[in-house]
Amino acid sequence: MARPVIGMVGSNMMDLITYYEDRFPRVGETIFGKDFEIGFGGKGANQAVAVAKLGGEVVVVTAVGDDLFGPLVKENFARHGIDTSFIKTVPGKTSGVAPIFVDPRGRNSIFIIPGANAFLLPEDVWKAREALARSHFILVQLEIPLETVYATMDLAQKFHIPVILNPAPFQPLDWQSIRGVRLFVPNERELEGFAGFPIEGEEDLKRAVATLWERGIENVLVTLGERGALLGSGGTFTLFPAYQARTVDTTGAGDAFLGALAYFLAEGKDLPCAVDLACAYAALSTEKRGTQKSFASREEFLEWLKTAQKKSPSFIL
Ligand code: RIB
Repeated sequence: MARPVIGMVGSNMMDLITYYEDRFPRVGETIFGKDFEIGFGGKGANQAVAVAKLGGEVVVVTAVGDDLFGPLVKENFARHGIDTSFIKTVPGKTSGVAPIFVDPRGRNSIFIIPGANAFLLPEDVWKAREALARSHFILVQLEIPLETVYATMDLAQKFHIPVILNPAPFQPLDWQSIRGVRLFVPNERELEGFAGFPIEGEEDLKRAVATLWERGIENVLVTLGERGALLGSGGTFTLFPAYQARTVDTTGAGDAFLGALAYFLAEGKDLPCAVDLACAYAALSTEKRGTQKSFASREEFLEWLKTAQKKSPSFIL
């Protein structure tokens, strides 16, 4: 089979990651943190790099600032064998940055300052149309302007390319503009935002997915972190248990999941198989610190998978 080609229209950020012990400082308080790392991130870039590490070709449409980070971000894409022709440099703007705080259990809290990502425009997507038209799937997130997300949906529809939309970070959406999305992949926090009520148990979770069905989104895949993923499609639910991992940092695990999902679907795996492999790839990414640098190569992943074990399902549907 031909090498999977994935289009990615989205963000890139420089991740400024602080690891802390015990607790987060209170307002007006200074305390010692544990460690700090700078890495390449941004949901779009992370998902693209996951695809590349698994062996796929990625068509990346993104924007950097004309600051010191811009050339580094481009070099990073190139190092992963990703064509940088459709990376726009926005004059007078900074590149996107993401201050990230990781607690002692490896759980993260993230701010994003989009910088140049906010200037990725529909015309940039249009300029890349011939390259994007070769994609088996297109990945989009919400760290770029919504008009650019909708323009990507339009272009994908024109070329009959299925879109996987990761609605992160949460923003209210125009449902009409994303009608036709093949897979809508929020995490629980984002799903709460769309549903408009807190998710406190399985029944809430299913009810929240049903609110998306009512808005015309047919296939909803909710990432549940250490509990796996829940697919809600055609009025039924399927739970995919997570894999066991020695977790140190969950940052970017959702992006590892999305990149792997797109890659394995494009490779020809059916949806249940691709979701299961994506759960495994995401679990493995939590065993290392950082975002993109925690993503395994195809060889490392296949080796790990030989002995990987699933967790028991966290709930029965
Ligand atoms: O999903 C993790 C990513 O979210 C980080 O890399 C950060 O840059 C933000 O975009």
